[in-house]
Amino acid sequence: MAIACSCSCCLQVLLLWAALWTVALAAVAVPAKLKAAPAPVVAGPVSRVEDARMFQIYYGQSFKVIKNFGDGKSYLLMQNTSKMASKTKYCTGRIKSFVIPLANFSVDTTASPGTNAAMAFLNFSHLKYSLHHQFRSVSTEINISVFFLKRNKLLGVLESLKGITSNQVASQCVLQSYTSGNTQLVNRTDAQTLSQFSAQFISNIDDDKGCNFAAYVPLEEDTPLQRAEWIKYLGTFTNSEDRANAVYDAIKRNYLCLSKAAANLSTRFKPIVAWIVYTQGMWTFVKESYALQYVTDAGAEIVDATITNKRFNSSDSEDMDNFHAILCTVDVVIDQTYALEPAEYKLSTFLENINVSQDSCFSFVSNRSIWRFDKRIGVSGTLDWYDGAISQPQLVLGDLIEVFFPTGNYTTIYFRNLAKEEGVTEIGPEMCTRSMSAPMEPITLPCQ
Ligand SMILES: *[C@@H]1O[C@H](CO)[C@@H](O)[C@H](O)[C@H]1NC(C)=O
Ligand SMILES: *[C@@H]1O[C@H](CO)[C@@H](O)[C@H](O)[C@H]1NC(C)=O
Ligand SMILES: *[C@@H]1O[C@H](CO)[C@@H](O)[C@H](O)[C@H]1NC(C)=O
Ligand SMILES: *[C@@H]1O[C@H](CO)[C@@H](O)[C@H](O)[C@H]1NC(C)=O
Ligand SMILES: *[C@@H]1O[C@H](CO)[C@@H](O)[C@H](O)[C@H]1NC(C)=O
Ligand SMILES: *[C@@H]1O[C@H](CO)[C@@H](O)[C@H](O)[C@H]1NC(C)=O
Ligand SMILES: *[C@@H]1O[C@H](CO)[C@@H](O)[C@H](O)[C@H]1NC(C)=O
Ligand SMILES: *[C@@H]1O[C@H](CO)[C@@H](O)[C@H](O)[C@H]1NC(C)=O
Ligand SMILES: *[C@@H]1O[C@H](CO)[C@@H](O)[C@H](O)[C@H]1NC(C)=O
Ligand SMILES: *[C@@H]1O[C@H](CO)[C@@H](O)[C@H](O)[C@H]1NC(C)=O
Repeated sequence: MAIACSCSCCLQVLLLWAALWTVALAAVAVPAKLKAAPAPVVAGPVSRVEDARMFQIYYGQSFKVIKNFGDGKSYLLMQNTSKMASKTKYCTGRIKSFVIPLANFSVDTTASPGTNAAMAFLNFSHLKYSLHHQFRSVSTEINISVFFLKRNKLLGVLESLKGITSNQVASQCVLQSYTSGNTQLVNRTDAQTLSQFSAQFISNIDDDKGCNFAAYVPLEEDTPLQRAEWIKYLGTFTNSEDRANAVYDAIKRNYLCLSKAAANLSTRFKPIVAWIVYTQGMWTFVKESYALQYVTDAGAEIVDATITNKRFNSSDSEDMDNFHAILCTVDVVIDQTYALEPAEYKLSTFLENINVSQDSCFSFVSNRSIWRFDKRIGVSGTLDWYDGAISQPQLVLGDLIEVFFPTGNYTTIYFRNLAKEEGVTEIGPEMCTRSMSAPMEPITLPCQ
């Protein structure tokens, strides 16, 4: 079948359309306008993916296609004003369709790192929310949902609704909305309720339970900037491309500037960093590529990968000897060990876990450089590391530059120094100073 592609791009869209036709031909009549479209004009703003590897966006005249390499699906986003939108609905193993701009949506925040903060940039935060009291009593449970309802029907706006699936969020403004009674909690496993949203964003693709589910998987990216670029993915669903582009550009510019400056900070040798984690009695070196990228971008060096492949059993003294030998060579330790209550994780906890005394001569102990990224936490112990830090990697980089090249002039946001008994910062609703109708602006750090 010959299909005229009205899109300015691209073979891919043509291929996708071909796929759509063969998979779901019965579902829809070919939009005649589309077929005859004379010029490949893309109305409205456009986002181009620069760094992220896990998604691509293609633009047509009245539609967009997101290819999501996280779940292997293509999302056909049809403008609500197009004929296609009223006639087309795809929900197959490989293709789903959405009408945009989304009238409402929800986010599974129990497993969608980075979404709250990313969404705050896009000015959805002006929405008014409402609370379902029956779930309040289970608000400490992990598997509940919070949905933010927009109730302002007076303006004739489609009823919108922003949902996130946990009140355990490390965002002061989200918490404010929750405590002010504007928040609805919904059972996360309740597919019926979730089906009422135009879209439900999830990041665990195994949780895909319906046609309105869309995978949001920044964590599958390799670098901090790639993760942050997922704001563009969200932006396409609400035609907020201009805003998403501006936010990402500002973040990227600042990140690259800081990284360039950091490259100049080390003298002859870069500081050596051990980024380690203790689980089930074993110490290991963290291998996640985004973490290694942060260390490199901040002008330091991670312990050589060839000697960090081992696991070290903390009850085995030979293992611990080997572990200590490696630690002897490092200047800075970042301890990623999970703590149910971050505030209770202190220097003594760490020293006990590595079986080292306070007066040991490890240089990170004597030089007091033992860090954790759990400084900013929500009321229930949720780390902003898994939300705001994903959206604003330039702040993490700024922290790490201070960690590796201390000036004493800069207060870290995400990292706290255990060695100096630095505590956590609990994020409460009272810390929300931004008006709910104002989108969050990315913070840019001074960088010449
Ligand atoms: C399309 O969405 C916009 C923005 O939400 C809304 O104002 C408009 O009424 C919608 N149009 C249709 C035809 O649904
Ligand atoms: C929460 O969900 C996980 C998997 O999604 C499940 O294993 C766990 O039992 C649930 N917990 C509660 C309290 O429902
Ligand atoms: C959530 O829904 C599931 C299945 O729909 C149900 O088994 C569970 O009890 C519900 N949880 C709450 C807190 O209502
Ligand atoms: C979301 O928007 C759609 C389309 O306007 C509407 O049918 C649906 O009821 C809304 N869902 C909720 C939960 O408000
Ligand atoms: C890096 O260092 C070189 C030489 O010390 C200097 O000329 C240059 O301006 C520095 N660049 C930055 C970005 O600080
Ligand atoms: C760690 O070492 C202890 C003592 O040798 C042993 O009992 C335990 O099974 C080991 N743990 C693991 C996870 O190998
Ligand atoms: C822990 O440290 C103590 C004192 O240095 C030592 O006697 C003991 O063997 C160590 N334990 C392990 C498992 O390395
Ligand atoms: C201790 O840290 C300072 C920077 O705070 C650094 O200049 C110094 O070289 C470090 N000393 C050791 C022994 O690592
Ligand atoms: C600390 O900041 C002040 C003002 O920004 C600056 O003048 C000073 O040089 C800084 N000190 C260090 C050690 O970077
Ligand atoms: C955010 O959205 C609200 C409602 O649409 C609007 O009134 C406000 O001006 C927007 N804020 C900005 C900074 O665009």
